[in-house]
Amino acid sequence: MRMLDLIEKKKQGGALNKAEIRFFVDGFTCGEIPDYQASALLMAICLVGMTSEETVALTDCMAHSGDILDLSDVDGVTADKHSTGGVGDKTTLVVAPVCAAMGLKIAKMSGRGLGHTGGTIDKLESIPGFRTSLSEAEFKTQVNAIGLAVTGQTGMLAPADKKIYALRDVTATVNSIPLIASSIMSKKLAAGAQNIVLDVKCGSGALLPNADDARALAEQMVAIGKTCGRGIAAVLTNMDVPLGTHIGNALEVTEACAVLQNGGAADLREISLTLSAYLIAMSLEKTYEEAYRAAEQMLESGAAFRKLQEMVAAQGGDARVLESETCFLSARMQAEVCAEQTGYIAHMHTQKIGESASLLGAGREKKTDVIDYAAGIVLHKKTGDFVNRGDVLAVLYASCAERLQAGKQRFLDALVFSNTKPEPQALCFGTVE
Ligand code: URA
Repeated sequence: MRMLDLIEKKKQGGALNKAEIRFFVDGFTCGEIPDYQASALLMAICLVGMTSEETVALTDCMAHSGDILDLSDVDGVTADKHSTGGVGDKTTLVVAPVCAAMGLKIAKMSGRGLGHTGGTIDKLESIPGFRTSLSEAEFKTQVNAIGLAVTGQTGMLAPADKKIYALRDVTATVNSIPLIASSIMSKKLAAGAQNIVLDVKCGSGALLPNADDARALAEQMVAIGKTCGRGIAAVLTNMDVPLGTHIGNALEVTEACAVLQNGGAADLREISLTLSAYLIAMSLEKTYEEAYRAAEQMLESGAAFRKLQEMVAAQGGDARVLESETCFLSARMQAEVCAEQTGYIAHMHTQKIGESASLLGAGREKKTDVIDYAAGIVLHKKTGDFVNRGDVLAVLYASCAERLQAGKQRFLDALVFSNTKPEPQALCFGTVE
């Protein structure tokens, strides 16, 4: 078999068979297929698409490119959650402890920030001492002992995805439905949990801004999960405005803790409860309404917050910083961004808000960049709010004046003002079960 023939076949609109897909995945993972040929195939897939059979085959080959975690010796129902990525998206930090407090065994493998979107691993690493690279044995022991562990993608789990994703990130081949579906689902299948809830974002801050594309992605991933015998549901959620008010790693941890202590932003609380309810309902055979109420009780009783503290301590982190915002990291410099005109905020281009946070130091432009965990944005106003000229729209945090200036400019570029109040936006657009 020759890679050249596979590229040509896909370029002409053909469907690759499983043996061809395996040839590509195995060859690229072990370094026999060079980046330039893999890039050409990925671009052809982006332009031509894949059939459902091809996407299932690609997912399966990627999932089996490394170890498949065997969680059969974990005592209880194992569960996992994944988001397609967004701005201010810290729902994992709420959903995982809520579900663990309900008795589910949350075995979660998370990623780092990508482009303008944040990643759970970076957020957790803002907690002093927190370890995100657990060995397989440590991971399983912790899931068994306290019902909750979050680890980074180890070299042994879905290594093909790790390599392919890194290449997609630098070849403009990220936003393809079959490539996103196979990337996410290969990791979920390799991580071994029985039940999975997916948060599929759509809007200006999502990888797939268009609602029809987001639904098609959700349907593909749910179909793959079901084919592989997993319990799975996808919730389509709004990413046309940042989620909550805090963007940036340490800032997002503090906002998640506020929700876990019965405060925090209403949209973050609502989406976190919705995702938790789907996972609890499918894992504990409850109705959605019963599961939602149970999730609320985990917040109200403080049980979910105590679970997060337990996990942080178990992974070597300083759990005291979760208690109060003032104990956490603080940025060297801060600046207010004020409204330059009077009117309603009609739209926040959410990708640009994410880029602003990145320019402040909260994200990476290159893989080797070092994150400033204290950097980021606290929003005082969001889409739909009326502002007077001079009102504070947000406070920006960074390590130096240059970063503050770059972040401020991008932040202002993201805002559209209007004299008329925009229609309120839904938080969720539906589910695929
Ligand atoms: N998240 C992933 O893990 N993979 C993608 O391709 C997109 C988002």
